[in-house]
Amino acid sequence: MLSKKAEGTRPIAVTGATGLIGRRLVPSLQNAGLHVRALVRATGASGSPSGVVGDLRDKYALGQLVEGADAVVHLAGIAHTRLRSVAEEEQARAVNVEGTRSLINAATEAGVRHFVFASSAHVYRGQEGLGLREDAPIEGDTAYGRMKLEAEETVLAARSSNMRISILRPCLTYGPGVRFNLQSLLRAVRRGYYVHVRDVDVIRSLASVDTVSAAIFHLLDARTTHSVFNIADRSPVHVDDWVNHLADLMQVRHPYGLSRSAMSILAGFGSAFQRVGLPAPLSRDSLHKLTSSFSLNTDRLASTGFSWPETRETVLREMISAEFGSGSR
Ligand SMILES: NC(=O)c1ccc[n+]([C@@H]2O[C@H](COP(=O)([O-])OP(=O)(O)OC[C@H]3O[C@@H](n4cnc5c(N)ncnc54)[C@H](OP(=O)(O)O)[C@@H]3O)[C@@H](O)[C@H]2O)c1
Repeated sequence: MLSKKAEGTRPIAVTGATGLIGRRLVPSLQNAGLHVRALVRATGASGSPSGVVGDLRDKYALGQLVEGADAVVHLAGIAHTRLRSVAEEEQARAVNVEGTRSLINAATEAGVRHFVFASSAHVYRGQEGLGLREDAPIEGDTAYGRMKLEAEETVLAARSSNMRISILRPCLTYGPGVRFNLQSLLRAVRRGYYVHVRDVDVIRSLASVDTVSAAIFHLLDARTTHSVFNIADRSPVHVDDWVNHLADLMQVRHPYGLSRSAMSILAGFGSAFQRVGLPAPLSRDSLHKLTSSFSLNTDRLASTGFSWPETRETVLREMISAEFGSGSR
């Protein structure tokens, strides 16, 4: 729990409050009696938390958001989407990099005590390897990863004796309302066209929305000299077991397996289709991702006294009912 010191009347400003993580974080802050002031877009979903209406690219709105705030939790960003053109990449950059720059500048000017920024495990080179610590090589080998890295650098440069900075690097996060890769995986398992790659034991860190939300809550007031934290569930998963478990929860059969060589042939066709603009569910790149292990070391987070919520199973069930309804298959 936040200490009395942080429980003042000064609000906690939150961006991205309507997103996957924000929807979990905001109620937990409010339930702890904290005053949340959210940045919400005029076009945002109904039921958005109250706060300042505006966009991350609107400096005036950012000034209003952070005025008098004790801390800022910056979650807003363009994620979960493939950036298919230079124009799309520029739009994402205006939000993920320039928006972050405007927000940290506004926070500095307003005398905010603590700025928490949701970066991503995508900053690690190749997103491969087991037990990566926060000092593992960073590269940003995707447009999204590069933007997160640049934003991290901008935020870290604003660290001062007056303003603490926490950079969080969550891995792939699951919870109700997932989109993009995880949503596609859920649908594929449900409809029976997800295929395991046989004889490859892929290990991956995942984070439940409860883990990410609880980590932010905890770090807002934790005593630590560190600024950068990996965020993941306490232990990584064996992907095949995890997917089989999802199938059990959905009451559908476990996916079949195909050998790696058969998958490579299919991936070769998929890549050829994609090169001529045709859709294909599998490509060489996606097969490489499917067969690569990637896990984060979370000892640094543990060293701050963080206790992981015991709600992985509940969150998985919530995710499935949000996607398919709570009835049977
Ligand atoms: N989910 C993951 O697996 C994961 C993993 C690592 C890091 N992260 C990072 O964690 C953060 C939160 O992720 P998430 O999964 O909760 O994201 P999300 O579900 O995609 O939500 C994005 C949030 O950002 C807001 N937003 C987008 N563009 C905006 C703009 N121009 N101005 C103001 N608000 C804007 C959205 O508002 P609207 O509702 O109005 O669209 C929404 O509240 C992101 O920065 C993401 O990069 C996520």
